[in-house]
Amino acid sequence: MKVSFAAPALPPSGALVLTVAKGGTLQGLAAEADAAASGALSKAVAASRFDGEAKATLEVTAPSGLDAERVLLVGVGAELDARLAEDVGGSVYSALAKSGSESAVLVWPQAGSAAAVGLGAALAAYRFDKYRTQLKDKDKPTLGELVIAAPDADAARQSYEQDGSKIVEAVGFARDFVSEPGNVLYPETYAEDLRELEAIGVSVEVLDQTALEELKMATLLGVAQGSAREARVVVMRWEGAEAPPIALVGKGVTFDTGGISIKPSGGMEEMKWDMGGSAAVVGAMRAIAGRKAAANVVGIVGLVENMPSATAQRPGDVVTSYSGQTVEVINTDAEGRLVLADLLAYVIEVYKPRAVVDLATLTGAMVMALAHEYAGMFSNDDELAASLVSAGEAVDEKLWRFPLHDAYDRMLESHIADMKNIGPREAGAISAAQFLKRFVGETPWAHLDIAGTAWTDKARPTVPKGATGYGVRLLDRLVRDVCER
Ligand code: BES
Ligand code: MN
Ligand code: ZN
Repeated sequence: MKVSFAAPALPPSGALVLTVAKGGTLQGLAAEADAAASGALSKAVAASRFDGEAKATLEVTAPSGLDAERVLLVGVGAELDARLAEDVGGSVYSALAKSGSESAVLVWPQAGSAAAVGLGAALAAYRFDKYRTQLKDKDKPTLGELVIAAPDADAARQSYEQDGSKIVEAVGFARDFVSEPGNVLYPETYAEDLRELEAIGVSVEVLDQTALEELKMATLLGVAQGSAREARVVVMRWEGAEAPPIALVGKGVTFDTGGISIKPSGGMEEMKWDMGGSAAVVGAMRAIAGRKAAANVVGIVGLVENMPSATAQRPGDVVTSYSGQTVEVINTDAEGRLVLADLLAYVIEVYKPRAVVDLATLTGAMVMALAHEYAGMFSNDDELAASLVSAGEAVDEKLWRFPLHDAYDRMLESHIADMKNIGPREAGAISAAQFLKRFVGETPWAHLDIAGTAWTDKARPTVPKGATGYGVRLLDRLVRDVCER
């Protein structure tokens, strides 16, 4: 959907969207439109339960006296910040998407938040329809253009073009990868697709199977060895500033069957999105490069498929990680940490980052703890943790910090190797984080367990059902706050 900005005016056609503050009184252009329609709008408000509550909508179809096909009243509540403006934009899109109107003008009287409204609407307009060949016309969206009529239209346009539209592209890029099924998206195809980032100035290095063997990334390769698909690691660099880089690390298990410790069949199809952490990283790289951020960022994703087969890793196998530490693989379904262990040690050794943030759909235990509202965070650095929490609040990709402690670390003691890859069932998300901590040394590090937030069965105003793209905006904001200040 196209988003544009113009000076406030009533449109000659299409849909007209007017904001209404808490209480339901029509003001400004809304009052003018109501007068032109002989009071039809205020009459509709009085006849309904619409009272201007933020995100609520009320449609009045084809009121006489106005040129508009329909008027949509949208509530903006009592106090509106940029985050709520995004949600209002998303709600407007959803209310009009299949209304029949092809264009809409949204009159937005508040200065300072028009770009956020456009961002929210564009994020809500994401769809993944490429595999639908029988979509009925009435199920297709009609709305193709949203004009936001705001007093500060020029500033809003500039902000949207420089930042907002780049975020929209980046989140869509991530959502597309997460939505793709495992037969289409696997390490080789995924790595090839990431070359697309070169067009916006990201340097993309693909480490193939042979390179990974030479580097001795054995915990990562152990996960991949049961699959007919080769593993790939992709390193993406955006050098927009001369400073030590911040490193973003993503789990990219393109399908997780569990391996020999195979998962139950019910719901296993969901494990196509076990690459959600990697999608957040590649989406963030796209956003950061897209808006030409003055920051030095290195993104690294480990792409593997976890399959059971005659060549698969066995429970009890001992592997030597890139760091030299040995791991006894008790459960082949705890594979994400094996992938991340090698990525973390490698990116820290080679790029000496000022900080590392990894994202992974790592544990079912995290979903039990937080459901789908917050992602879990673990960190060895209070400052980094605080930056992440505030970035998450700003973009509504919220984080809740969990503890790390030696007592949890001891749960990983092995009889024959440096560590096991699982602890007991209790505190499963924490022992997974303790496992990762063994591979980061003294580098400031945060681990985000996004198992509950990478995918959603329930639409939110700016996040349609399905792949959320969680983490893209969070990382983009973190880089903005920490590196670009
Ligand atoms: N990818 C899964 C975690 C997961 C589960 C993500 C449900 C999203 C929804 C991960 O690889 C996994 O299988 N973890 C195991 C670890 C266990 C064997 C210690 C889990 O959480 O059950
Ligand atoms: Mn698993
Ligand atoms: Zn997994």
